Amino acid sequence: MSVDSDDVTVEDKKSDGENEEILESKDNEEKVEEDKEQEETDKNKSKRMYNPWKEVAIRAESERRYMENELIKLQKEVQQLYQELKKLKSPPLIIGEIVDVLDDNRVVVKSTTGPNFVVQVANFVDKSKISVGTRVSLNRDSLSVIGILSSSKDPIISEAEIIEKPKVSFKDIGGLETQIKEIKESVELPLVKPELFRKVGIDPPTGVLLIGSPGTGKTLLAQAVAQETNATFIRLVGSELVQKYIGEGGRLVRELFALAKEKSPSIIFIDELDAIAAKRIDTGTSADREVQRTLMQLLAELDGFDPLIDVRIIGASNRPDILDSALLRPGRFDRIIEVPLPNYEARLEILQIHTKRMNLNKDVDVEEIATKTDGLSGAELKAICTEAGMFAIRENHYSVSKHNFDLAIDKVKKSETLSQIKEMGAMFA
Ligand SMILES: Nc1ncnc2c1ncn2[C@@H]1O[C@H](COP(=O)(O)OP(=O)(O)OP(=O)(O)O)[C@@H](O)[C@H]1O
Ligand SMILES: [Mg+2]
Repeated sequence: MSVDSDDVTVEDKKSDGENEEILESKDNEEKVEEDKEQEETDKNKSKRMYNPWKEVAIRAESERRYMENELIKLQKEVQQLYQELKKLKSPPLIIGEIVDVLDDNRVVVKSTTGPNFVVQVANFVDKSKISVGTRVSLNRDSLSVIGILSSSKDPIISEAEIIEKPKVSFKDIGGLETQIKEIKESVELPLVKPELFRKVGIDPPTGVLLIGSPGTGKTLLAQAVAQETNATFIRLVGSELVQKYIGEGGRLVRELFALAKEKSPSIIFIDELDAIAAKRIDTGTSADREVQRTLMQLLAELDGFDPLIDVRIIGASNRPDILDSALLRPGRFDRIIEVPLPNYEARLEILQIHTKRMNLNKDVDVEEIATKTDGLSGAELKAICTEAGMFAIRENHYSVSKHNFDLAIDKVKKSETLSQIKEMGAMFA
């Protein structure tokens, strides 16, 4: 700057008066600008001086907030631990069943400890929910009723309710149109339109029995019903009702029907019914007698004192010849739906269903396969499709050829004759 000002003074000497004035005013302006710059740098300096403190303050503030949150979290944890401790310290309660309801807030309970007791009901217990048979919890010392429990069900029964519906619809069943119509009529219709039956003046059939050779689509039909219906679907396999201890099977049947009534409208499906419903015979082991007792309980439940209004039963068996005749009399499984081995048209439909998603060569003629597979069941037809696919994979092909199907038919037919031979062997043994 000093050099500049020197230059100006040199020029000043050379120039006239006007120029001098302009130069002076320029000089002034420059000075003002210089002052401003100085001020700003001072300000910035001061800012820079205070910044560290501000940062410290911000950091401290965020730390405080973090600590506060931490404190709240720990307090919650302490509370939870206190509650857990309380639970661990609380004495166990006794489970009892109400046998009789007396006046003056008293009830007779049958406890799991043995004898019956007359006990008080705690004030905080809802008395309207207490009736004969209610499951309650009892104080360990005074045995007074201090809580109401939900009715207990065997896990076998409570797990039998189907919540996730199977992905089978009536469209996936080939060649069983009349059977589908019949099952809809006798199972779905009474649940959906009970007034129709009332108008006509008849009771809808209680039970439907699906009978037919293995692999003809009985279980498939029941799955489709479960998928289509909005009613609760309870599925059980007959053998699950066969229990080790005396009376257990009967209890399961009772609980099964109790669940069905509780969740009505509902459909009970007992697959492989022959496991418990075989003809009763005089001789037999104690195990046979227990199975017979289970069957008797089933018969009693089917008759029932309170009619099974919103409960329908479907049974399935591939051994109708060994079923007890008492089960088949009207009022029980009175509607018998026969599921036969598929004829040509049915086989064609089943093959079309199972080859729908398959990548087939042009030379595959489904009609020809249907003619070749006389006497085979739906399950065997499905097996042929799977086998043909496996042969194609073995040949490293992405599509299935006629040759693959021929091999598959031979294989499935051979395994069928093998099983027949084995059956005959068992008969002679
Ligand atoms: N009519 C049919 N339409 C389509 N597929 C069928 C048919 N019948 C049987 N199948 C096929 O066969 C398989 C077995 O059928 P399913 O389980 O219904 O036989 P089932 O009659 O219950 O035999 P079992 O008496 O041995 O229990 C089904 O999963 C299905 O893929
Ligand atoms: Mg089955």
